[in-house]
Amino acid sequence: MPRTAPEVHTDLVLEPRDVRFDWSALPLHWIPDEPFATHTVNVLHLLLPEGERWFVEVFKEALPLVRDEQLREEVLGFIGQESIHAEAHQEVLDHLLAQGLDPRPYVRQIAWLFQRVLGPKPRLTARRRRENVIERVAFVAAIEHFTAFLGNWALNSPGLDRAGADATMLDLLRWHGAEEVEHRSVAFDLLVHLDPGYLRRVRGMLLGGPLLVHLWVRGVRFLLAADPTLDGRIRPSWQEAWQVSRRGLLPDPVQSLRSGLRYLRRGYHPTQEGSSAQALGYLATSPAARAAAAH
Ligand SMILES: [Fe+2]
Ligand SMILES: [Fe+2]
Repeated sequence: MPRTAPEVHTDLVLEPRDVRFDWSALPLHWIPDEPFATHTVNVLHLLLPEGERWFVEVFKEALPLVRDEQLREEVLGFIGQESIHAEAHQEVLDHLLAQGLDPRPYVRQIAWLFQRVLGPKPRLTARRRRENVIERVAFVAAIEHFTAFLGNWALNSPGLDRAGADATMLDLLRWHGAEEVEHRSVAFDLLVHLDPGYLRRVRGMLLGGPLLVHLWVRGVRFLLAADPTLDGRIRPSWQEAWQVSRRGLLPDPVQSLRSGLRYLRRGYHPTQEGSSAQALGYLATSPAARAAAAH
C-alpha cells in the first residue's frame, strides 16, 4: 500500500522521555484566582489517562497492518510517548483526589467510553476487525490534530506565565504539548498508510471533533461542581470561556473551531501546523525531563 502523504519527516525519531513531577505543592487553583480557567485546562487530566491508554491499544492493534519500516518505528515511538503522558496526567488526578476533589465519577464514564464503546471488537470477522481498527485510527488522527493544536498553544501561551500559573503544571502542559507537536504526523500518516481515502479522514473528525467538545464541556461542569472550595458558585458559559481566552488563559474557541476545519482540507498535513524546532527546543530544557535524567 503506498503512502500518499508527503514524506516530510523521514528522519523523525521519537524518543519516549522520562519525566519527574513533584505535585506536593500544587494549589487546587493552579492559575491563581482563576478557577474556571484552571478547571477548563484540568479536563485534560480527566480525559487523557484513559484516552491515551486507548490510543496505545489502538496503535498496538494497528501495528501488524503496517508495511513501512519507518512508519512502524514512528508508531512504536508514539506508543512509548503516549504511555508516559497517560501516567503523568494520572498523577495529577491522584493529587486532585487528595485535595478533596474526587474525579472518579467522571473518569468512570470516560473509561466506559474508551474501553467498551470504542474498545476492540474481537467477535468481528478478520476483515471487519481490520476495518474497525482503521476506523479507530481515523478517530485517533482527528483527536491528535487537536492535541497538537493544544500543544502548540501551550508552548505559546505567555498569558499563563503572566497570570502566575504554577510552574510545575506549566511544565507538564508544555512538555506534553511539545511531544504532541513533535509526533503530530504519526497518527495521520498511519491513517493514510492504511486508508488514503478522504472520506474516512472526514468521518474521524466529524465524530471526534464534536465528541471532544461535548466531553470537555461536561468535564468543566463536573470539575466546577465537584470543587469543594466553590460550592457550585461558578456556572460555566461560552461567554466566560471567550473572556478568559482573551486574557490568554485558554485557547480562543473560534481559533479552535477553525483549526478543526483545516483538518478537512484535502491538502492538509499535520506538519503544516506548529513548529518541531520549537517543540524540540522546549524538550531540551523541560525541568521535568531534566529531573528524570538526573536520577
Ligand atoms: Fe499525549
Ligand atoms: Fe499524541
